[in-house]
Amino acid sequence: MRTTVGIIGAGPAGLLLARLLHNAGIDSVVLETRDRAYVEQRQRAGILEQGTVDVLREAGAAARMDREGIPHDGIELRFDRRRHRVDFPALTGGRSVMVYAQTEVCKDLIALQLAAGGPLLFEAEALAVEGAGTEQPRVRFRHQGREDVLECDYVVGCDGSWGVARKAVPADVSRVFERTYPYGWLGILADVPPSHDELVYARHDRGFALLSMRSPTVTRAYLQVPADTDAADWGDEEIWDELDRRLETDDAWTLKRGPITAKSVTPMRSHVHEPMRHGRVFLAGDAAHIVPPTGAKGLNLAVGDVVTFARALVERRDTGSDARLEAYSATCLRRVWQAERFSYAMTTMLHRAPGATPFDDRIQFAQLDRITTARSAEADLAESYTGFPLD
Ligand code: APR
Ligand code: PHB
Repeated sequence: MRTTVGIIGAGPAGLLLARLLHNAGIDSVVLETRDRAYVEQRQRAGILEQGTVDVLREAGAAARMDREGIPHDGIELRFDRRRHRVDFPALTGGRSVMVYAQTEVCKDLIALQLAAGGPLLFEAEALAVEGAGTEQPRVRFRHQGREDVLECDYVVGCDGSWGVARKAVPADVSRVFERTYPYGWLGILADVPPSHDELVYARHDRGFALLSMRSPTVTRAYLQVPADTDAADWGDEEIWDELDRRLETDDAWTLKRGPITAKSVTPMRSHVHEPMRHGRVFLAGDAAHIVPPTGAKGLNLAVGDVVTFARALVERRDTGSDARLEAYSATCLRRVWQAERFSYAMTTMLHRAPGATPFDDRIQFAQLDRITTARSAEADLAESYTGFPLD
């Protein structure tokens, strides 16, 4: 098998890349180790930055998002039983975000790719990427019980945090930067309308809580829990009681409860793999970087990477210049580290670490105080949350 761009992984990064390349007249093949149903059901965060919304629209992949997505012009911060709203458009010159689940983005992109696009092979596991330093890198893969080789001009590893593409970068040139947080998130989906019309991020002495949504009838919510928590250990009423405590306010706000339909625990870590390119092998999305979910940046960073790659490849085709491809890693890493910084700041400002001291608590309150009283600090949060324009 031969193609211009071999794409490993059909998460949002790989799927969007295939679409961008197809629209630009560049052929690709996507290899995905899981089956379609699995990819379409995986629960992930659901906040699309302004730049991501714009890219999906330009790519012709936004019809359902524009019908069903919920535009949000702000978030609420809760602490000390108080509420503070951050008004995104007012602070950023008109930028906002869209609430539309990542699973739905994937479903839309898969449907488009299968209707009009290059091959998208499910249950096709990439085993190794070879020849990164040559003009013709290859992906060895297994599909329907048979081993095969995909010959490419370029390989893009969009194969997530446990993928194989990363191994194509030799150990002596790669560096990994990591931080594991001493807590995780217990996430639930519940068949009950959201209790607030925007997302609520709450700092509480008992730990962080987040109130989100998937639709006008489905609530998504999270509780900070110890990292080794088993979701099955939490009863439904216990979860609602804990959300109630951590989200409590001095006004008449109340939490709506309903049947919980899914429960899972997500670990929290930051991870960056540098560089994001070796020869003709490129890394994009979770394959190169993980952020804790507090800033809702994971999907948006993946989008930034593949947009940068697609534009660089189009430039090479149109002008013969490799300059943008060569700058790929540096261009993406600058954005990645801004997202790491923001996600780290949001996470440590809002979570209560085991062993936190009264000093740590005071620092958190001072940070929240700054955001709620200094326009520059609040604007910094709003700009980082809604995302910077893609260059
Ligand atoms: N061969 C083929 N496919 C593979 C292989 C392999 N060896 N290893 C992993 N994959 C597939 C996974 O099954 C998955 O479908 O690669 C895909 C990677 O997709 P994601 O994990 O969704 O990563 P990405 O597309 O980078 O999206 C980033 O995902 O984790 C969230 O918060 C993150 O929202 C962000 C988004
Ligand atoms: C979600 O709705 O899943 C979600 C929202 C905001 C976050 C993280 C997750 O910061």
